Amino acid sequence: MYKSYKVADNFYWVGAIDWNLRDFHGYTTEKGSSYNAFLMMDEKITLFDTVKPHFADEMLERISDLVEPKKIDYIIVNHVEMDHSGALAKVVDIIKPEKLICSAKGKEAMLAHFKRTDWPYHVVKTGESISLGKHNVTFIETPMLHWPDSMFSYINEQRILVSSDAFGQHWATSERFDDEVDFGELMFQSGKYLANILMPYSNLIQKLLKDVTALGIKIDLIAPDHGLMWRKNIPAIIKAYDEWSRPTLRNKAVVVFDTMWKSTELMAQQVAEGLMSKGVIVKFMKLGENDRSEVMTEVLDSKAVIVGSSTLNNEMLPRVADMLTYMKGLKPTGRIGACVNSYGWNPAVIKKINAELESCGIKLVDEGIAVKYVPEQNDLKKCFDMGVKIAANIKD
Ligand code: FEO
Repeated sequence: MYKSYKVADNFYWVGAIDWNLRDFHGYTTEKGSSYNAFLMMDEKITLFDTVKPHFADEMLERISDLVEPKKIDYIIVNHVEMDHSGALAKVVDIIKPEKLICSAKGKEAMLAHFKRTDWPYHVVKTGESISLGKHNVTFIETPMLHWPDSMFSYINEQRILVSSDAFGQHWATSERFDDEVDFGELMFQSGKYLANILMPYSNLIQKLLKDVTALGIKIDLIAPDHGLMWRKNIPAIIKAYDEWSRPTLRNKAVVVFDTMWKSTELMAQQVAEGLMSKGVIVKFMKLGENDRSEVMTEVLDSKAVIVGSSTLNNEMLPRVADMLTYMKGLKPTGRIGACVNSYGWNPAVIKKINAELESCGIKLVDEGIAVKYVPEQNDLKKCFDMGVKIAANIKD
């Protein structure tokens, strides 16, 4: 039997827990995830967001713990991505809501996904409010956080911000609040989430934080659509979002590589040694042992990214190409970088890696080092020196 969980007076969590999810379109979710939906029991009973399609029954049963789902009056759709709206087709047919409240882009996206021109769309804009009876909900459009349709809902009387993807974590837990779990793990998962989902929109996070500050709204609870709700550590997560999205970069470098016969690994190790000799914090990450989302989590606060690859059939190794494609989409601008490469007969791959790094928005501080077959001591010395040179650039 699926139960509801009280979050605040008249406000309940009715979402779903995806305990064994291990991949979220390329993001490794080693601790699963949750899809948070909330129910406000007011004169107008209101559902905030839904869940993935195959969790629709779980959510409906949690709602039934409080009220017959057909009695719901309004559904607020803060975000149309399928992890929060996939259940809508089934849920709207059962509930037949009086209003389906969304942004203009939300209506557009729902029409594109569900082809339902008969749904009772009610489009809202930033600053607009709607009364549920005793509670009023004000909307804040947050386009591209993380789709064009995204918005926040703010429950004025209880100072609850239903924040869609923002401030969330992919972490399946039996606990529902930030102060019930390990704080270090919570911040790690929050940073991982931002690094792998929201990083390309860092400038919009900055704007959003300013806009919310300008609105002067007070927040007693942040209720994201994934993971734990924030009630104790709200200043900490807002400060972290500010730092991660500026970004505030540390004296830290990620050395990420794949290797065929260990030549590239030897080279990458010496770059790492050069960096460490100058006091740089180093994360040394072999692809295959570390996945792309773990790498991006470390890139989040790193000033430098150094990539290593052997040459395979005139190309970089597949896992390196995968990593760079993933990183390019996430746009880790503001970092510096370089690369190392070992090859057999075609030295051109280094140019391809450099081009990919530049496409990521990473500024090259060295032309890179390519070595035929196996590095000699003097080659390894060059790699060490490159690490020292990158360290000097990190501290500039
Ligand atoms: Fe959790 Fe953009 O969906």
